[in-house]
Order: sequence, then C-alpha cells, then structure tokens
Amino acid sequence: MALLEVKDLQVSFDTAAGNILALNGVSFSLERGEVLALLGESGSGKSVTASAIMDLVPDPPGAINEGSICFDGLDLLQLSRTARRDLCGDRIALIFQDALAALNPVYPVGWQIAEMFRIHGRMPEGGIEQAVLDLLTAVGIPDPAGRKTQYPHEFSGGMRQRIMIAMAVALEPDIIIADEPTTALDVTIQAQIVDLLERVRKRSDAAMIFITHDLGVVAEIADRVAVMYAGRIVETASVFELFEDARHPYSVGLLASQPRMNSDESELVPIPGSGPNPVALPSGCTFRTRCSRAQDLCARVVPALQPVGPGRQVACHFPVTP
Ligand SMILES: Nc1ncnc2c1ncn2[C@@H]1O[C@H](COP(=O)(O)OP(=O)(O)OP(=O)(O)O)[C@@H](O)[C@H]1O
Ligand code: SF4
Ligand SMILES: [Mg+2]
Repeated sequence: MALLEVKDLQVSFDTAAGNILALNGVSFSLERGEVLALLGESGSGKSVTASAIMDLVPDPPGAINEGSICFDGLDLLQLSRTARRDLCGDRIALIFQDALAALNPVYPVGWQIAEMFRIHGRMPEGGIEQAVLDLLTAVGIPDPAGRKTQYPHEFSGGMRQRIMIAMAVALEPDIIIADEPTTALDVTIQAQIVDLLERVRKRSDAAMIFITHDLGVVAEIADRVAVMYAGRIVETASVFELFEDARHPYSVGLLASQPRMNSDESELVPIPGSGPNPVALPSGCTFRTRCSRAQDLCARVVPALQPVGPGRQVACHFPVTP
C-alpha cells in the first residue's frame, strides 16, 4: 500500500468571477521514502493539492467536493478535523515559499522550533534545548547557541528557509511537502537549500512532494514526476522517462520551453498560448486549445489518466509515441 494515495480529488473556489475548478480529479500516489515532483505552470493546482492534503483549503470560498486522500491507510477526508490534525499534524510537514510569512515574527526562532516538540509532546523538557541546537546545526545555521534567541527578521532569506526546514523535520515526519521552497531566493542559495532539504530528508527517510516550475531541480531531487495542467495530472513518469521520452504533448512542450543542462537557450520553444481561463475551461481535453496534435475527439471526451507502461500514466487521446 502506498503511504499516500490521492484519488479523484476535486476542489473548487466560489469567486466573484465564477466557480473555479482548481482540482478536477487529481489522482496520484506516493511511496515511503519517495520524492515526487509536482510540475506545472502557474495556476495548474499544485499549491491547492498541497493545501488539500494539509487540510488548509480555505472554506469558504474553497470546498473539497469529491475524492479521497488516504494517508497510511486512513481516508483523511472522512476524519473529523481534530482527529485529522492529531493523526497527521506531526507526520506531514509543509515548507512554504515564503518563510517570513510562515514564521511567527514575535518569537525567537529557537523558541518556535522548541514549540514543535512541546505541542506534540515528543520530548521531555530537559532534552529540548539540545535538540534545537542540534537541528540548527544540522540545517547549517552558524553559531546556533547565539542565533536561537534571534527573531525571524534578523535572518537572511536563505537562513530563514533553513529554519523552516529545521521546523519541518524536527518531528521526523513521514512526508515533507515543499511548495516552491527556493523560488524567493538567490540562485546560489537555491542550490544550497535544495541540497540541504535532500540531506535532511534522507536522514529520516521521509517521502517528499516537491512542488516546482524548475526542471533542473526536478532532475536533481526527484524520483518521479507528476505533470499538472489546469487542475489535472496529465502525465506521471520517472524523472528519466519524462526527460528522455515524455508522452503528453504538454510535458513535451514544457521540456522544450525550459533550459536544461547543456541545452542551447536559442533552441527553446515556448508553448503557444497561455493557461486556460479557470472559470471557462475548454470542453474535453483542457490542453486542446494549445495542442498541435488535437483532433475532434479531444473537444468531446476528457482523456483519462491511463497506464502506458510500468509506473507510467498519460492522459491523452493521441500521446506522443517514442
Ligand atoms: N483562495 C483562493 N480563492 C480563489 N481561487 C483560488 C484560491 N486558491 C487558489 N485558487 C485558484 O485555484 C487554481 C490553482 O491555484 P494554485 O495556487 O494551486 O496554482 P499553482 O499551480 O500552485 O500556481 P503557482 O505556480 O503560481 O503557485 C488557480 O486558478 C487559482 O486562482
Ligand atoms: S487529448 Fe488531444 S488535445 Fe489533449 S493533449 Fe492529447 S492530443 Fe492534445
Ligand atoms: Mg503554488
């Protein structure tokens, strides 16, 4: 059994512009210790997927209309909010893009990490101070004893992200969800944070869902990729398979439009058009307005996500063949 199994998840938002179907039948699974990258353009539903797993969809205006999220065999959507928070509060951790917004500005960072242990009753009070120092050391904060009494605003963006990572891994979660954790940082710091995240993840053999736009990061960190488009997963494959032999026309477009190692930037080809209007999605396949392979069937029938080989799935009537 997979550690996390998301099936047919549908999430909508009631907005002034109309009803937005942010997730329109999202299904994927995550094995223990596996790193899954969630890849897709802005607005494709990556963060809403993370919010639904973490019970953070704002209701209203949001609502989970359908589907199931099974974590360790239990359907989270069938549990009461309290039972759900008790079950996974310390077993699934979320790292945001913006550490400054996620950390509490009025408490020293060491105190905030210590609270993680206190709230979840995981450690006798006498051991907490040393555990905080060990964590700050593990995430590469110099002079942890001196810096643990400082406040979030006294740290650089990269250092704050290290502190968020320390908080996320403090309780050795089964799953870390990292939602574009490096987007707000300088390029050199980005690479350090990705390395750090991978190091601390391996220490406790946690699984990870890594949300990103960046193919370079996917290649470095992920085992498997799920490509999202307009609230659906359109392809899942190992990183190698996706890079060598993508089958969904959108995945092929993504790969052709982004620079990769050793690639010539002058050869990049953008995907024509832009993401669909979320309140007026095209019928059938939502990618059809941008797809060079589209035929009549694509406007009439939604392509289901179907196996195309061991561990591979594609949602397309006319997938690219090797
Ligand atoms: N609180 C909200 N109210 C209304 N609509 C929302 C809300 N949160 C998300 N949405 C909508 O849901 C859709 C999916 O958004 P989501 O934030 O998951 O995209 P994303 O893939 O994470 O994009 P990005 O790469 O820009 O972070 C978008 O159309 C977005 O406008
Ligand atoms: S189903 Fe049709 S429109 Fe959609 S990606 Fe495949 S070929 Fe293109
Ligand atoms: Mg997002």
